[in-house]
Amino acid sequence: MSDKKRIEELREQIRKHNHLYYQKAEPEISDQEYDQLFKELEALEDKHPDWVTPDSPTQRVGGEPLEGFETVRHEVPMLSISNTYSKEELEDFETRLGRALDSEGPFEYVVEPKIDGVAVTAVYEDGYFTLGATRGNGVEGDNITANMKTIRNLPLSLPLKDLGLKKLEVRGEVYMTTEDFTQLNKKREEAGEEVYANPRNTTAGSLKLLDPKQVGERPLRLAIHSFGSMTLAEGVDRRPWSKHSELYEKMSDLKMPIVPEWTIKTGVDQILPLIDEWAEKRFDLPFETDGLVVKLNDFRLRENAGTTSRSPRWVIAYKFPAEQAETTLEKIEIQVGRTGAMTPRAHLSPVKLAGTTVSRATLHNADEIERKDLREGDRVMVEKGGEIIPKVLASLPDKRDGSQRPFKFPTKCPSCGGPITRPEGEVVHRCENIDCPAQLRRRIEHFASRRAMDIEGLGTKLVEALLEEGLVKGIPDLYRLEKEAVAGLERMGEKSAENLLNGLEKSKQNPAHRLLHGIGIRHVGEHVAEVLCSSVQDLRDLEKKTAEELEEIEEVGPVVAQAIQDFFAAEHNREVFEQLAELGLNFDCKTAASGAEQVDQVFEGLQFVLTGTLPNLTRDEAKALIQERGGRVTGSVSKKTNYVLVGADPGSKADKAEKLGVPMISEEDLNTALKKGF
Ligand code: IVH
Repeated sequence: MSDKKRIEELREQIRKHNHLYYQKAEPEISDQEYDQLFKELEALEDKHPDWVTPDSPTQRVGGEPLEGFETVRHEVPMLSISNTYSKEELEDFETRLGRALDSEGPFEYVVEPKIDGVAVTAVYEDGYFTLGATRGNGVEGDNITANMKTIRNLPLSLPLKDLGLKKLEVRGEVYMTTEDFTQLNKKREEAGEEVYANPRNTTAGSLKLLDPKQVGERPLRLAIHSFGSMTLAEGVDRRPWSKHSELYEKMSDLKMPIVPEWTIKTGVDQILPLIDEWAEKRFDLPFETDGLVVKLNDFRLRENAGTTSRSPRWVIAYKFPAEQAETTLEKIEIQVGRTGAMTPRAHLSPVKLAGTTVSRATLHNADEIERKDLREGDRVMVEKGGEIIPKVLASLPDKRDGSQRPFKFPTKCPSCGGPITRPEGEVVHRCENIDCPAQLRRRIEHFASRRAMDIEGLGTKLVEALLEEGLVKGIPDLYRLEKEAVAGLERMGEKSAENLLNGLEKSKQNPAHRLLHGIGIRHVGEHVAEVLCSSVQDLRDLEKKTAEELEEIEEVGPVVAQAIQDFFAAEHNREVFEQLAELGLNFDCKTAASGAEQVDQVFEGLQFVLTGTLPNLTRDEAKALIQERGGRVTGSVSKKTNYVLVGADPGSKADKAEKLGVPMISEEDLNTALKKGF
């Protein structure tokens, strides 16, 4: 078979299996078999890069990390919907509709679960998915196209022509199934990482990650529930649907994922029994739902009903009441998360709640325990609303027998005995010990990561093995590793051990700001590390600075200053600094340790924005070239931007540059300007 044919066949198969897995929950092949198909397609597309189409399954993942999200204006605002908690109010809704439409009704509605997810919009133009955005404030949202492409059940193309359309914007919810969320948390728990609180927030957080590759690892799904703007194809004068149910039918035929379990009901009288039915049934849905959405089916009637400033008059959400139960708070346990954050967790006597047996609940923080006066041994009310993890609502003080004592938050970390701090104005207690075992794995992973110390060969599995075997108890131990010991680890050998030691040795020469970023002081990210580093001779000078002195540094505010002070207040952290210096890591902030010659600051004061794929340089390389010469690289184009560096397939940043009249330059222009400036 020709490569071309095989590529098409593979794409078709992968799409089919995505559909079977995500829409039908009836996978026909194993994950490995799926991966194999995917790899084969990747290999063939590598061989024939010209044949890659925007809707090939390989185009979901990939792409460079973003600097930030651009703002997009919604062509049709994304409104919210009004809520009701009672059946009477639902009847009032129909009465109001009757008045607005000057008709007795009853009206035909589509009724469906309200998904507790994150609202997004997806634009298809000339057949392809071209733009994905968050709801934002309803008028403007964030451009999250690259992230949305990773959502496996989002079709990357849609045969709009067949519908008589040129452009269509569909809207829906991105969510995680309860099962996927539980699995994700299980993995995190096993890895000693903090678990996520609920699928909704985790979904929202995932969509806001700047690295699409990471987003691709989150089990996100999409369900469509409405549409936004629409442009008819030339010569077409009718919309492809006149009712919501027709929209759903047509979209389903095209394998667009629709909110499941939608039904048509006539009149609120028919909806009331459905509400009772769903009171229990909702716990059987694969995702979290907190209510039912009732929407007028006929689009012409919708138009007549109109819209208030906040929400349309033709739709309402009936919210289920949160379920509550009484039980005993047996114990309050303090968990230390991967960032050192302490989260109190309630151990409860098992109790049936919202379809599951509950024995744990989150207590969020010390303030909450105090405010609710929760004591070990108390009888308490627990509630489970839209969250997987239930919350403790209140204690029942009348039921105390005198044995319950007010809760005292520990003063030492339960994992390492290190000091606990609670920065002013923050609610969270934290362990400040840089080598605290509860945090160490994540700290080392961050330390070794590409944007920090970039230690080749030091991946997740190896970090795990080093910690498990006790070879590493703190960051300095990395630089004390011996080849034989590393080579003796499972799946390691002479060669890989040597690679690791070489990688570590090389990292000693990294610029000091990368070390500072790698150390992982709270609020000290890549950029702040650079700023801090440029204000001192030696990294250890930061130790001696007072909060006031730190705040004098441009771009450093009280939060960063406080975080640095807290960090150095822990004696162990100062020792770690000393040890790293003794081990030969670069603390000198004034020399470019990579041995690179000092270059003229020809871009001093200039702001750049990058977009598209450059012919030779990666984004990071281009950024480094600019920054080494004193320029700044920002995420979005504004009037302050001096140059937009444009590569192939530029995003809307190029359009914006054009609109604002910001000069656009190519990689070649940049190269020419490196020595003498523009
Ligand atoms: S219909 C005019 N249907 O809930 C908006 N929305 O609280 C029409 N939502 O912003 C939206 N499930 O993002 C609709 N089955 C569903 C929904 C749903 C969740 C979200 C939606 C909306 C929010 C309002």
